[in-house]
Amino acid sequence: MEFHNIILQWYDLNKRDLPWRSTKEPYKIWVSEIILQQTRVVNGIIYYRRFIEHFPNLHSLANADENDVLLIWQGLGYYSRARNLHFSAKYIVDKLNSNFPNTFQDIIKLKGIGDYTASAISSICFEEKVPAIDGNIFRILSRLFELKESFYSNKFKTKIKKLALEIMPNNRFGDYNQALMDYGSIICKPINPLCSECMVSTMCKSFKKNKVHLYPVKKKKIKLKTYYYEYIIVIKENKFLIKKIDNGIWKNLFQFPVSISKTKQTKNELIKIFSQEIGNNITKFNLINKSFIEHRLSHLKIKSRFWLVNFENNFLDGIFTNDFNRYPMSKLMYKFINDYEIRLSKLSKFKLNNYYVRNTK
Ligand code: ADE
Repeated sequence: MEFHNIILQWYDLNKRDLPWRSTKEPYKIWVSEIILQQTRVVNGIIYYRRFIEHFPNLHSLANADENDVLLIWQGLGYYSRARNLHFSAKYIVDKLNSNFPNTFQDIIKLKGIGDYTASAISSICFEEKVPAIDGNIFRILSRLFELKESFYSNKFKTKIKKLALEIMPNNRFGDYNQALMDYGSIICKPINPLCSECMVSTMCKSFKKNKVHLYPVKKKKIKLKTYYYEYIIVIKENKFLIKKIDNGIWKNLFQFPVSISKTKQTKNELIKIFSQEIGNNITKFNLINKSFIEHRLSHLKIKSRFWLVNFENNFLDGIFTNDFNRYPMSKLMYKFINDYEIRLSKLSKFKLNNYYVRNTK
């Protein structure tokens, strides 16, 4: 039996029961694939259900306010995914007459959709023969063919692309792509793969040499840059000052006023920095969290502190609120708000967003 037959047979018996597998509606598959791009399946299921409950179809998403889309997305991270989903939903409705594109070539033109997502959607919804190349397929094929190139090299990617297409079946393209995703998550796992249960181990070059653990070859470790985010907590009439973020990965989310730097600043340096913004009349500048709250993003590590600030006259721009339900915020904000909930509520009454999935630790 050929590789693809074995994988499909395994899938028919072992496939995961996932909510987006009961449909071929491109809108829903699109939403699921975007959510799953940087999210584990268990967490993805929660957000997928929540997203579809609020925006069950293309029109409901296209007609939504971006703030509401970001609120539903809150806690998932990589917010450009949500902004792009919303943008593309409006684009399909306004410019494509509400017709979801039905080929790889057209799907990939949508904002926020790359090679992998276009392949997943076109194979699952429209049975187009394109391999959906994600981390699972990189891992499976690098082990199967014992690919010695670095995982980070273009040569590796080109080789995988070519091989992935060559070993595809001639039908059931959507199932086959999803079979490899499940096979990679359940059997050919990154750590402790279940080679003794693997149905294709006799074909696997690295298994035959007892070298599965060496593939894919990932020598180069990317060192994360550290940034210091110093936030100020300003309270007026029981309300907190927050600001809308105007660029970067957290664009259009809200946060407390912040000073960002590559090096750690002293209290006096921070007072100087914030004085420029709020005037030279700070009467209190007290640290709330004694140790830094750390938050990791894919490309950087954030170390953050929060300072309770009082000052005399204030000409601040921003929004004063005690209702955090209305404003989408990053996980970092919520980490702090959750950790210091009691302390903050003594300073000011506020409501926490109960939609937020509390897995910030
Ligand atoms: N990860 C990304 N897309 C997926 C899918 N359709 N099924 C399972 N895991 C996935």
